[in-house]
Amino acid sequence: MGLLSGKVAVVTGGARGIGAAIAYKLGAEGAPVVIADADEEAGAYRERWLRSNGVNALFIKADVSKEGEVASLFRKVEEKFGRLDALINNAGVANFKDFFEETLEDWYKVIDTNLTGPYLCSKYAARIMAKNNGGVIINIASTRAFQSEPNTVPYSASKGGLIAMTHALAVTLAKYRIRVVAVSPG
Ligand SMILES: NC(=O)c1ccc[n+]([C@@H]2O[C@H](COP(=O)([O-])OP(=O)(O)OC[C@H]3O[C@@H](n4cnc5c(N)ncnc54)[C@H](O)[C@@H]3O)[C@@H](O)[C@H]2O)c1
Repeated sequence: MGLLSGKVAVVTGGARGIGAAIAYKLGAEGAPVVIADADEEAGAYRERWLRSNGVNALFIKADVSKEGEVASLFRKVEEKFGRLDALINNAGVANFKDFFEETLEDWYKVIDTNLTGPYLCSKYAARIMAKNNGGVIINIASTRAFQSEPNTVPYSASKGGLIAMTHALAVTLAKYRIRVVAVSPG
């Protein structure tokens, strides 16, 4: 019995990198883990890898910036597990370009994934958590929310927004016993 036996977690962007490591650690503590990722091949690979390492993992393909895909993701989670205890908003893109070369499309790609994605996922996840007496949402922000390198404008703006969204969500969702916190890797 691990610390998280009986708890269910969703990790966005869990197919690789930090998200895959988070999924592994949560799974090693006994939680069934859903990895939601836009990359189908990487997600399927990570599901196999996690299972072969003893984790009860399920990959669901979802682009966090698209509301229909997010709604479908959390509908499937609720149908399969009947509950949700933790959402890790980890999916993110970094697209560092020269400020004057960067296009509006570049801006939206980063904002849509890094800021709209956590907004949508938090909303659909919190609806399930509220039914099972609470949970936790962990936003993976960045030290770029507080200090920047040149030519990181959309990324830094998205992570600063995510920090602000974290305290807005925390006070909004507290009455449902949902904690909302952020971690800023650097
Ligand atoms: N790696 C670092 O040094 C670092 C530092 C600070 C913050 N972060 C943050 O940590 C998080 C993870 O970073 P990483 O380095 O592991 O990234 P990564 O690029 O290795 O992995 C990101 C994952 O997110 C997925 N993804 C991208 N867009 C998506 C979308 N729209 N919908 C669903 N999935 C999507 C990708 O397919 C990929 O599997 C990001 O939010 C990043 O901004 C990373």
